[in-house]
Amino acid sequence: MVFKPKSLNPSPHQPVLLSQVLSALNLRSDGIYVDCTFGRGGHTEAILNRLGTVGGVLAFDQDPEAVQAAQALCVADNRFSIVHSDFAQLALHVERRGWLGKVNGVLLDLGVSSPQLDTPARGFSFMRDGPLDMRMNPNSTETETETETVTVVGVGEWLSKATTFEIADVLKTYGEERHARRLARAIVAAREQTELKTTRQLADIIAAAHPAWEKDKHPATRCFQALRIFINRELEQLRQVLPQVLEVLAPGGRLVVISFHSLEDRIVKRFIRDCVRGDDFPPGVPVTAKALHPTLRTIGKPVKPSAAEVAANPRARSAIMRVAEVLTEKKMSVNK
Ligand SMILES: C[S@@+](CC[C@H](N)C(=O)[O-])C[C@H]1O[C@@H](n2cnc3c(N)ncnc32)[C@H](O)[C@@H]1O
Repeated sequence: MVFKPKSLNPSPHQPVLLSQVLSALNLRSDGIYVDCTFGRGGHTEAILNRLGTVGGVLAFDQDPEAVQAAQALCVADNRFSIVHSDFAQLALHVERRGWLGKVNGVLLDLGVSSPQLDTPARGFSFMRDGPLDMRMNPNSTETETETETVTVVGVGEWLSKATTFEIADVLKTYGEERHARRLARAIVAAREQTELKTTRQLADIIAAAHPAWEKDKHPATRCFQALRIFINRELEQLRQVLPQVLEVLAPGGRLVVISFHSLEDRIVKRFIRDCVRGDDFPPGVPVTAKALHPTLRTIGKPVKPSAAEVAANPRARSAIMRVAEVLTEKKMSVNK
């Protein structure tokens, strides 16, 4: 069987749920905003257009190409600055600017950008042949966490050493791939014949071994998603940044998160739910709502793109936006 893609045309990144994000941030003209995922700056530029001379936007991106793309905006607009960092360092960089507890809105538009997906050399795509890499920051070999230093390698290097069990675990956990063990065995068998170097090689191995192709979906879709999430430690970084948002935001400040798959949306949903509820007390202990120290309130229901947006930008189809607001009497805790 041969998979026929609908289109291979490279596209610039189109910001997802743009008008909904702007209204969710509840923008004020003198506000300070943090865009944790600059990409190509679609959301950032729209925010800047609504700020006065006093407001500002600090952006993050771990991809050096995104940071490079932001340089022109840094020069043209002194209300804007960018740091080349993963957003798990949010509080550190905000503190350096003296903005801790003063930020009016934090935006996380998770996942990868269109330029990342559409540039074969980045190795994210099963549609285009490129080196098997998928690191959002290809310069990074090590990253610091609170407890350890993690070595970051590209997908090809990781697949050359991982066991069948480890590969299957990643495909199942991060791609919800039902045939993870079978596909992991096929990958290990193939790498014994020849070194796995390119995205096309991997996509072909998976396509040949996959017993149940889904309609209109390349059989390697779930595996590529799984490997990308794993290699970039996407879920760990999301878990690390969310509690820091409580430190960074001012009372009344907004958290806006756009997720693209259920694994990340579940983390966001549970974080907001726990902050809305406040501290956990043992069951049966009578406590007043105030003693629970809730830190956030939910704003509206989860928002999905309209049919018109999905028709214009199919990559928006799985987006879901959640919004929460910091309560006026918030608890300054990063241990949530
Ligand atoms: C979906 S795109 C954002 C697009 C952007 N909102 C726009 O309108 O152009 C996600 C971007 O976030 C970056 N990114 C993803 N995870 C990150 C992390 N943990 N730290 C910093 N940047 C990250 C990616 O490199 C990518 O450029």
